Amino acid sequence: PGTPYLRVTPSMLKKQTGRKGKDAWTVFNGRVYNISPYMPYHPGGEPELLRCAGRDGTKLFAEIHPWVNYETMLASSMIGLFVEESEVAG
Ligand code: HEM
Repeated sequence: PGTPYLRVTPSMLKKQTGRKGKDAWTVFNGRVYNISPYMPYHPGGEPELLRCAGRDGTKLFAEIHPWVNYETMLASSMIGLFVEESEVAG
């Protein structure tokens, strides 16, 4: 079955802004991605990409370039599933 996915809550996501030594994470369609490794390669530049850091970037991404296949591009940077606070114990 493989390794279970990490379950990421809104409060965990909020800290992953790409600042203070932390990687930048975002959410596209319920999946959480580490976008820091892709940062230098983004054709739209780093500041644009960082607009979705630490939050759900689904809408923003779809507004700008819905034709871009992020699933393939970020496959190796998929770190988990975005879940509600109440879905995680503790
Ligand atoms: C361009 C990928 C997130 C803004 C592009 C292009 C790719 C890409 C492949 C070139 C598209 C083309 O020419 O057809 C990605 C990936 C993202 C991401 C993989 C997520 C990790 C974002 C976000 C924003 C953004 C969140 C804005 C908030 C732009 C802009 C361009 C662009 C403005 C146009 C650059 C230009 O042609 O001058 N992106 N993008 N991208 N992206 Fe992203």
